[in-house]
Amino acid sequence: MPALYLAPMAGITDQVFRRLCFAKGCDYGTTEMVSAQGFLTAPKDRNAYRFLLARFPEEGPLSVQLFGSEPGFLAQAAARLTETGVFSGIDLNMGCPAQKVVGGQSGSALMKDTPLAARIVEQVKKNTHLPVSVKMRLGWDDEHKNAVPFAKALENAGADLLTVHGRTRAQQYAGRADWEAIAQVKRAVSIPVIANGDIVSGETARQALSVTGCDGLAIGRGALGNPWIFSEIKAYLSGEAYTPPPFSEVIDTALAQARDMAEWKGEKSALLEMRKHFAWYTAGRRNSALVRTKITLASSFDEVEALLRTLL
Ligand SMILES: Cc1cc2nc3c(=O)[nH]c(=O)nc-3n(C[C@H](O)[C@H](O)[C@H](O)COP(=O)(O)O)c2cc1C
Repeated sequence: MPALYLAPMAGITDQVFRRLCFAKGCDYGTTEMVSAQGFLTAPKDRNAYRFLLARFPEEGPLSVQLFGSEPGFLAQAAARLTETGVFSGIDLNMGCPAQKVVGGQSGSALMKDTPLAARIVEQVKKNTHLPVSVKMRLGWDDEHKNAVPFAKALENAGADLLTVHGRTRAQQYAGRADWEAIAQVKRAVSIPVIANGDIVSGETARQALSVTGCDGLAIGRGALGNPWIFSEIKAYLSGEAYTPPPFSEVIDTALAQARDMAEWKGEKSALLEMRKHFAWYTAGRRNSALVRTKITLASSFDEVEALLRTLL
């Protein structure tokens, strides 16, 4: 069975959501992206980093994802995070398309500077005993699709695993992920390659594996409001029947996630952060648009629970 990863998603893949995905069959998780420089310069008790780096003991293997462009900062951050003993891998972000990230030459901007990207991998490798993985795209834009030589350079620099999102930076998240282009990367290197992009069901998982020949799959948006996707894919790939959870279980799961979040960050933050999750859990259900609007005005967990239960 190929390994199933929960793809890192900023503002989403916190410890509460990850634990839920692990419970439904996810094999590997990654934290939200963390700025190497920000982490190094933040006072020790800065809440942002405390939350970003928190993990539940019941979670499965978890990599911490770093972004940055200075090999020295990335290496130092990797060393410190390794010392905590909390993480089982260091993942380097070379795929984020956001302007504030690429503006600082980080994220997918690193795909325009292969020597720098390779230096980063080398330096990080020297400063951790943990496996070092890289999350990359197909290139900067249609005219600069350099995923194959880039992947080879990272492999030579010591990368232990690559996750390839089948889009260019210019595509952001639009258009179809190009699994054939991921296959070319898989064929070009001998380290494990994980395919990512548009895997949203058992059938798309099977197709992505068959086209790419990859060693595993990373699922991002397909897990939103649907942590069961990992069980669905595992059942599908092993030829077993899969029954989606009844909607009552979906609502119970959403409420349990909200409760765990409230215990962790307090009710007020939890209600704010859970709004998007409630929208994903209830998408396409009758009357859900109205309930979602009412949820944005709710000031207590009990109120939200009552509103969600009206959908049943
Ligand atoms: C809201 C959001 C946040 C994301 N944050 C990150 C991130 O922090 N690090 C990263 O490497 N990729 C990030 N991604 C990209 C995903 O990991 C993934 O590569 C992309 O969504 C394509 O996979 P999918 O089609 O399964 O969603 C993010 C994607 C979304 C939608």
